[in-house]
Amino acid sequence: MSGNHESLKKFLENRSSIRYIFTGGKGGVGKTISAAGIAAYFALKGEKVLLASLNPVHSLSSLFNQDLSGGVIKPVEGIENLWAIEVDITEKVMRYKKQLSERLRWFLKWADIPVKADEFVDIAATNPAFEESAMFDETVDIMLEKGSEFDRIIFDTAAVANAVRLLGLNKIYGLWLERMIESRKEALSLRVKLSFRKEKVMEEIKKDPMMKDLLELNEKIRKATEIFGDPNKTVFFFVTLPLALPIAVVKRFIKMVEGFNIPTGGVIVNSVLTKKTLELGEATDYLKNKLVEQERYLEIIKRDLWPQVRTVIPLYPREIIGVESVIKLSEDMFNWEPSMGFYQ
Ligand SMILES: Nc1ncnc2c1ncn2[C@@H]1O[C@H](COP(=O)(O)OP(=O)(O)OP(=O)(O)O)[C@@H](O)[C@H]1O
Ligand SMILES: [Mg+2]
Repeated sequence: MSGNHESLKKFLENRSSIRYIFTGGKGGVGKTISAAGIAAYFALKGEKVLLASLNPVHSLSSLFNQDLSGGVIKPVEGIENLWAIEVDITEKVMRYKKQLSERLRWFLKWADIPVKADEFVDIAATNPAFEESAMFDETVDIMLEKGSEFDRIIFDTAAVANAVRLLGLNKIYGLWLERMIESRKEALSLRVKLSFRKEKVMEEIKKDPMMKDLLELNEKIRKATEIFGDPNKTVFFFVTLPLALPIAVVKRFIKMVEGFNIPTGGVIVNSVLTKKTLELGEATDYLKNKLVEQERYLEIIKRDLWPQVRTVIPLYPREIIGVESVIKLSEDMFNWEPSMGFYQ
């Protein structure tokens, strides 16, 4: 427990320029509540904060016990300066499919390829990566479009696997796009050279929808990579329970994310059974056994992750529902210091 071990509060104070905060981890470990706790902290300090849920199954409405659905930014009743959105990608996915099919038809016709576009569209659009990339696209849009409207944006991401895969995709997309743009340029200039009606071809090229798409996408990816890779702007926190599987997942993802040059902020340990929890609930055999079991996993966290632990959230006697519970959680998250250990 060295002196330079930063708590969540210190970590974020020492990096006050960070604007985009992500929480990730295995399913059900507490990503949503952690994101909400962080968002509430900054909002209560007077900053304008957006909490964005990127899960296909949203839970902000049930967490805050109010209707935050509909895919639009809504104020959170009870916490001034806090806004929330449950991002809806169905419309985006539909738009993508339509655009993809138009582009494909156009391309097949242009290239004189006598096949039906529908089959290609179906194959491309049923790929699970399609929805993931729509989700990623939406994330980037929120960062770019809402970044100037809010002081901080906190993202509650779907399972980290997806998030990281998206970031990996991003890198591959970038490379692929560069190649596509090059070969598109070559193809177009060849057409100009070969044509007797150069002017008409030049006109056509200016309107080339595929080139336009490629350039736009490339620009977006460049910007996204810039934001995601900037430790002064972006940070990923990993949430784990004191259990074997989530710990293993967190360790693996820290490595993966760092492999993509994305800054990691550290680990949030959630649902720790404390002496206080034991006193609150009658210390049944079940809880006593749980405590013994937990001890083992806390040892692992201490051994392998301790300097990266930013906060420890106790297991509350009840589910976290409603503004008051979120505020209490937020206080616990930001009052924690390394010297408090696991509250044992
Ligand atoms: N420390 C805690 N004490 C009591 N209940 C908790 C605690 N942490 C989380 N919960 C409850 O556990 C459930 C899961 O938490 P949460 O929704 O934040 O997890 P998640 O990682 O976002 O899940 P998903 O992967 O499904 O999105 C919620 O009902 C929440 O209220
Ligand atoms: Mg969640």
